[in-house]
Amino acid sequence: MTGGAVVDVVGGQTLQITSDHDGDVDLSLVIPTFNEADSIADLIRILHGILTGAGVSHELIVVDDDSPDRTWEVASSLADEVPTLSVLRRTGETGLATAVACGWAHARSRVLGVIDGDGQHPPEVLLDLLDALDERTDVSVASRHLPGGGVTNWSAARRLLSRGAQALGLLLLPGTVGRVTDPMSGYFLVRREAVVGQELHPVGYKILLEVLARGDIRRVAETPYVFLERERGESKVRPLHYLDYLRHLMRLRLLPLRSQALARYLAVTLTALIVDAAAFVWLFDGLDLNLTRSAALAGEVGILYTVLLLDLWTFAGRVARTALDRIRRLLGVQLALGILLFGRLMLINALVNWFHLGPLAAFLVALAAMTPVGHLLGSRLTWRPNRG
Ligand code: GDD
Ligand code: MN
Repeated sequence: MTGGAVVDVVGGQTLQITSDHDGDVDLSLVIPTFNEADSIADLIRILHGILTGAGVSHELIVVDDDSPDRTWEVASSLADEVPTLSVLRRTGETGLATAVACGWAHARSRVLGVIDGDGQHPPEVLLDLLDALDERTDVSVASRHLPGGGVTNWSAARRLLSRGAQALGLLLLPGTVGRVTDPMSGYFLVRREAVVGQELHPVGYKILLEVLARGDIRRVAETPYVFLERERGESKVRPLHYLDYLRHLMRLRLLPLRSQALARYLAVTLTALIVDAAAFVWLFDGLDLNLTRSAALAGEVGILYTVLLLDLWTFAGRVARTALDRIRRLLGVQLALGILLFGRLMLINALVNWFHLGPLAAFLVALAAMTPVGHLLGSRLTWRPNRG
């Protein structure tokens, strides 16, 4: 995108972040707005000043939902003064979270960000967020719930509601919501690679949930900030948004059941058991190797089968960012399953020697006992099947 005129976009489409980017731009910051005509100009000037002052090449993308107060027009009047500014005027759809996704779909750089358009997110924190986004970190979140962060003058009722929503999120999506102290934050950065190819379908306000649930996120960094009072305009939060939040949580909760990756993951896991058992029978009965040796070799055949199929088929769409990432991933499963294989050998020997089970029975019991553990471990270390 280039700065200047207002670009009209029609909402309601499925949005995907592509891998195309322009290496000369460091940051694409989306500013979602609805009726923020009174705040937007100051904010744009301040952001531009801070980023330019710090030498961060950037683009500012206002995504306005065709506001009745003509926020888009006010914003675009700054185009000459702020050459890094673009303004999208979206029709046919409203909603904070989808507005952000829409802005990102038009963004050029490798780092995608979002900040409120009403001045409640302190702009200078942006530089801290950028600093925190080191090589190993995919998401950098501004948090109200860290020492040094907070809210000014929130009523006890609003605090309670916000914390209640967070607790509910933790209950329904512990692996997602539990990764940050402030999952409700609408002020954060994410690396493009972490969300490339993911279809974003956020409902309502909470785009961060969508990113954490669907993205391939390694490390998350958090920086404290104080959520400022609104000086102009009014909040757009309505009771209906709490229902949106619930719908969003449920949708993300059900995500794994629909995912093709999970089905393929299960297929690989189940056929691996057969391969493993068949190899054991062949080695032990056919080639007359001893029990431990047969079980160890069969186990390793099963591991290699699993590792290769997961990489080439199940998670084929999930491109490793670097060769090193891929090797780390492969070694991760190999290591996890290898340790478990050692456990399996001990168990087989114990079952045969102490419980006098036959070799095949001992092998099958140990296989059944150790496999689920191995996959849990392997998945934690590597592809995370539930994020497909
Ligand atoms: N394009 C677009 N479309 N923008 C919207 C819409 C919409 O439907 N609804 C709200 N916005 C914009 C607002 O104009 C503002 O710039 C920003 O999104 C935040 O909206 P507010 O209505 O001011 O939200 P808030 O202050 O109550 O809530 C904030 O608090 C959370 C703190 O946990 C939001 O900023 C969240 O992003 C933040 O996480
Ligand atoms: Mn606000």
